[in-house]
Amino acid sequence: MAVWWIMVLLGFFFFGKGEDKKCDNFSDVDFHEAFIGTNLYVRLLLYTRSNLDCGQELPHHDFTTVPLFHVTRPTTFVIHGYRPTGAPPIWINRITRLLAEQADMNVLVVDWNRGAANLNYFTTVANTRHTAANITAFIRRMTDEGACLDSIHLIGVSLGAHVAGFIGAMLGGRVGRITGLDPAGPMFAGVPPEERLDSSDAQFVDVLHTDMNSFGLRGANGHIDFYANGGLDQPGCPKTIFSGKSYFVCDHQRSVFLYLCSLNHTCHLTAYPCSSYTDFLNGQCLQCEAFKPASCPVLGYDLSQWRDKLLKLGQTKVYFSTTAEPPYRKMSYIVDTVTWNQYLRWGIVILRLHSSKNVTEARIDHKLLRFERHTTMRLLAQFDEDSYPVQKISFRIVTGNVIGPRYKIRLLRIMVTPLDLPERPPMCRYDLVMEENVEVTFKPQSCDQSHL
Ligand SMILES: *[C@@H]1O[C@H](CO)[C@@H](O)[C@H](O)[C@H]1NC(C)=O
Ligand SMILES: *[C@@H]1O[C@H](CO)[C@@H](O)[C@H](O)[C@H]1NC(C)=O
Ligand SMILES: *[C@@H]1O[C@H](CO)[C@@H](O)[C@H](O)[C@H]1NC(C)=O
Ligand SMILES: *[C@@H]1O[C@H](CO)[C@@H](O)[C@H](O)[C@H]1NC(C)=O
Repeated sequence: MAVWWIMVLLGFFFFGKGEDKKCDNFSDVDFHEAFIGTNLYVRLLLYTRSNLDCGQELPHHDFTTVPLFHVTRPTTFVIHGYRPTGAPPIWINRITRLLAEQADMNVLVVDWNRGAANLNYFTTVANTRHTAANITAFIRRMTDEGACLDSIHLIGVSLGAHVAGFIGAMLGGRVGRITGLDPAGPMFAGVPPEERLDSSDAQFVDVLHTDMNSFGLRGANGHIDFYANGGLDQPGCPKTIFSGKSYFVCDHQRSVFLYLCSLNHTCHLTAYPCSSYTDFLNGQCLQCEAFKPASCPVLGYDLSQWRDKLLKLGQTKVYFSTTAEPPYRKMSYIVDTVTWNQYLRWGIVILRLHSSKNVTEARIDHKLLRFERHTTMRLLAQFDEDSYPVQKISFRIVTGNVIGPRYKIRLLRIMVTPLDLPERPPMCRYDLVMEENVEVTFKPQSCDQSHL
């Protein structure tokens, strides 16, 4: 009797092991095949909390026979873009894992690598429609089996964002959500909304832009559009073609890395509603009243706090700056100054914050600032590192005047307020006389209401 039980247990053990070993991986198309081109073939790889590291390919028709796949759970489709070399995207394992952490869901990786791996971009663009039709048919079958369109989320990267848009449109805009990560620009610039991702494709569409001046699409495509560093060039990405391949893909891929980092809750990136990045840098868009009691929108998976408001607004563009590396967050301060000086001076500002260990510097130099008789000015100072608690502040106005006599500049008040960190009090200094191009360093005081 005992021997029989042991055999059954061993059988389970080996059977279980054997099943774990058989994983279905993302297609690896070799460069030679990519060069001659392959025919489109669409695969769906399922990842759930029970098989985080071991994808299981779903049949297009009889998926009800797959025990891991519960159609009534929320389902997120991850749709990649153009793969000129045919290699699998390096971020697939990370995104499936992180999505499964957000909620108990089905993560379905849409592997259309045979179809996206082609040196001819135009062939790949043509395949986006076929891929979308294929996935749409699959989703219809899911709804026949009891799935709800409200709990379907399509995440599309680059060309994949337009695939998601086409699927959404074929389903009458009724899927719950589409997230577009730097929707592809080439062949999609200036086309009507039906031919690209737009906000009518799902109940809620959120988009992140990182490379609008080359592989990404300009403009706004969602209910909310996040523009990282203005949506054009990303810090830390090479600026010249001599850096090889990363010159081409770095800015575009940053959208995926920013999204992964926010899914992992390692990056807390708050974005501010504004009409342009320049206005944002000018400190004109730091108000979040419209979203009260929530803060301004934070990039990532959970936008539920802002969703209703954003749907009411229809279309919102939000801006933020990042550093070159994870956790990408900049430490930002609002700097309000009141100057009172005799002569008009133009210059840039260099601000340094000293803690007992550290000094960090911000240059506010995206345009020349005007210091004159009585001017109140609001600036946005963004630092790559956090220096806290701040013990001293250094302030310098650089005018470029190196030979003439040095003019005095008088600051009646300078108030430095941390952005997004209400627990840190604002810091002030009153009546400071300084010379142009000379740094003054002072100990901040608490801000006295009577001075304001
Ligand atoms: C799938 O990928 C894993 C890890 O990269 C690898 O160990 C395994 O051999 C692959 N399976 C197949 C069938 O290629
Ligand atoms: C989707 O694509 C797969 C493989 O390319 C195919 O087997 C399946 O029949 C397609 N589904 C539809 C509805 O065309
Ligand atoms: C999430 O972030 C932690 C560090 O905060 C890191 O160790 C981990 O690898 C990240 N996970 C993924 C899936 O990227
Ligand atoms: C500066 O201080 C922060 C914490 O306040 C610390 O994480 C960082 O490593 C410090 N940087 C340097 C260069 O010492």
